[in-house]
Order: sequence, then structure tokens, then C-alpha cells
Amino acid sequence: MTNSRIAAVDVGNDAVKANFGKLESSLYIPNVIARDLEDRPVIGIEDLDEKDPLDNLHIRVHSPALKENNAIYRVGNLATKTTNSTELDPGSYKSEEDQTLIMLFASLAIDAVEGKNAQSAKNNVVEANYTLGTGLPLREVKEGKDVGYRSQLLGSVHQVEFLVTPKYQGMKVNIKFDEVKVYPEGFAAYINLVMDNDLNIINKELIDKQILIQDIGGLSTDIAVIRNRNVDDDKAQGFNLGVSESLEMIRDEILTKHGVELDSRRDVVDIITRNNDRHHIMVKGSRTNVHDITDRILLELAKKQYRYLRNVWQKNSQSEICYFVGGGSAVLKEYIKTLNNKLDGFNIEFFEDENESIWMMANAYYKLISDFIRKNSKPAGKENKKEEQKTASSK
Ligand SMILES: Nc1ncnc2c1ncn2[C@@H]1O[C@H](COP(=O)(O)OP(=O)(O)OP(=O)(O)O)[C@@H](O)[C@H]1O
Ligand SMILES: [Mg+2]
Repeated sequence: MTNSRIAAVDVGNDAVKANFGKLESSLYIPNVIARDLEDRPVIGIEDLDEKDPLDNLHIRVHSPALKENNAIYRVGNLATKTTNSTELDPGSYKSEEDQTLIMLFASLAIDAVEGKNAQSAKNNVVEANYTLGTGLPLREVKEGKDVGYRSQLLGSVHQVEFLVTPKYQGMKVNIKFDEVKVYPEGFAAYINLVMDNDLNIINKELIDKQILIQDIGGLSTDIAVIRNRNVDDDKAQGFNLGVSESLEMIRDEILTKHGVELDSRRDVVDIITRNNDRHHIMVKGSRTNVHDITDRILLELAKKQYRYLRNVWQKNSQSEICYFVGGGSAVLKEYIKTLNNKLDGFNIEFFEDENESIWMMANAYYKLISDFIRKNSKPAGKENKKEEQKTASSK
């Protein structure tokens, strides 16, 4: 495993978050892809060199793991500009969608072409070896989908070819995995809460408590129940509702009411979370309050999220605290806190820094996979096996 690079990748329904190497680089890519039938896209080929590669990801992907092999995709921001773009459907299995693999391979390929190895590439082909830590929703791990997902990644070479992408056009990356670990998402969040990068316990008070973790993502919400230092599979619940739909509704209403078209959901997030001039937009040069729109829609979503919490807490009455994570928690923080003060007064906690919420999974996978590597690079001996088991179940 000597020249294997660490990759910790959270393929979120809304965006991919990835950490690499010794944490010297990371990537954030919206989880949107669009199939292209031709290898030259109609838009965006002029002044290519002045553009950011990340905004112009155009790739062909060869991999036996894909249902549609050798297809061409626009990925991330470039895909959002097309009409045939697809986002993951909340009811689907992450582990069974080509889109999950396309996003995973694309993020690794970017890391590879940005790295040192790329300069020594022969014939524009970069050989990239990774040790991957990633995750799947608890529901899929429960059904054993992680096994097939892992083995299809391990079993072959996956190639990403950059087509009309600035700087990297014509380059190919051969991705090989030396090891792949697939962790259940809720468990990973717990690890991130109680352990530092060396998996030393940083939160003694928390470690033996029964806790809930409510992860409000773009398209889904998961509530994990942690008991005896492990996820309680039977108690965890998933809901097909995230924050994206509400952000989209706000965008629509601002357009209808004020005639202002915001570029993306990200702009909506900015309007509702920024410190200065929150809930205001400019309309024909006049500062305009949109609080009525944002408040109504977000409060409605917060109420639904609060109902989920109540429901799970009722079934797990001995829980001591619930942590809210995910980008949706950052957006709904004040609304949920206010509701909670008026209603049940549960012991709930949010993260100060919204980035901590959003990067929770990717950071956890990083901790887990680094620890795995550390334990397996020790000289072989009877110690090793024991420690590996310890990590796997975290007992
Ligand atoms: N800095 C931010 N502050 C607040 N909200 C954000 C921020 N960045 C992203 N969001 C919003 O939070 C939502 C959820 O983001 P997150 O990255 O947690 O979802 P995900 O993990 O990709 O999705 P899922 O958990 O459903 O698979 C998105 O709709 C996004 O627009
Ligand atoms: Mg998520």
C-alpha cells in the first residue's frame, strides 16, 4: 500500500465532499450529472483555458462497475446548466446508481490530475492508486448492499478520460483501489463527534451515552440512534425529505413575487444564512425584504423535521442528546431551536460552524480510513488482527 493515496469521499445526494492525502486537498462538487451523446459539448468550448476545470467537468468513464459503460457526462456545475441533468432520486439506492460511481470516479480523477503523479504521466495517462473510505446510508448497509458495492470497486480498473475540460483535456486517469472501506453514514457521524484524527476519544462524556444524530441533507434526512458505542440498526430511521425542495420553493416564489431569478439554491442559502442583510435581496436597485417568503417555507420544513425528531425520541426515550448535522441543519438551525423552546425542550445541539455540519461525513471517513491504514501498516503479528476487529465494530 506504499504509494496508495488516501481518499475519504462522501457522495451526498446534494454534493460530493472529499478529503485526500494528508488532508492537503479537498473537493466539493454538486452531485449533478448530464449524459452527453457527443464528445464535444455544445456550450463552453470557447476560451477554454481561462476557465476553471471544476466548472467544466466533461468526462468519459470506462468501468465494468457501471451499468452504462463508456458513457460521456458533464459533471457538477457544468451539468446544472443543461436541461437533461439528473440528480439522485431520494427513493433510490445510492449503491446501485451509476451516478454515485460517476461522481466518485470524477472526484478521484480530479485529485489525480492535480497531483504530483500527473506530471510524470506517460502518454497523458495517470496511474492512480487509492485507499478509499466512503459510506452508504444505513438502510443500504443493513440490506448488505455495501458488500457488492465494495467488491465492484476493488475488482477492476476504472478509467476517467477528460474531454472538453480546461487544463486536463485529453488526460486519462486509471483508478485502482488497494482497499475500500464502506461505513454506515450514521456511525461515521458518531465517530466524528467522539474521536479526533488519531481516533483518540475527545468527548468522554458522550461516548457511552445514548445519542441521536439527525442528518438533514439535500434530499434526505437520517436519524441514527447510537447505543453502546454502535449504531442501533433497528432504531435508525430515514426520511425522503431534505432541504433542497424548500430552497427551490423559495427561489420560485422570489421569482414570482419580485421578478428576480436567483442562480441557484446556493444563492438562497446565502440569503437566509449570511450575517449582513439576511433575508434581503436587491430588486431593481432597491433593498427588498423577503423574510415573509423564507420564514414561511423554512418554518414549514422545520416543523416536519421536528416531527421526525419527536417521533424517534419517543421510540428511544432514554436518549440524552440529539446532534443536528448536514447542510440542512445549518439552514434550519434557528427555526428548529425556536420550535424546541416553545414545544418539547429536547436536549439538542447544532454546530457553530456550518462547514463542520456539511463536512461531517467526509471528515469521519477520513478518520476511519487513516486509522485502518495505520493499524494495517504495522509489522504483521497477532496484535494486528485484534485491533482491526476493534476498529470495525468500534467496541
Ligand atoms: N454553507 C452552507 N450553509 C448552509 N447550507 C448549505 C451550505 N452549503 C450547502 N448547503 C445546503 O445544505 C443542503 C444539504 O447539504 P449536504 O451537503 O448536507 O447534503 P448531502 O449530504 O449532499 O445530501 P444527503 O445527505 O441528502 O445525501 C443543500 O441543499 C445545500 O444547498
Ligand atoms: Mg449527507
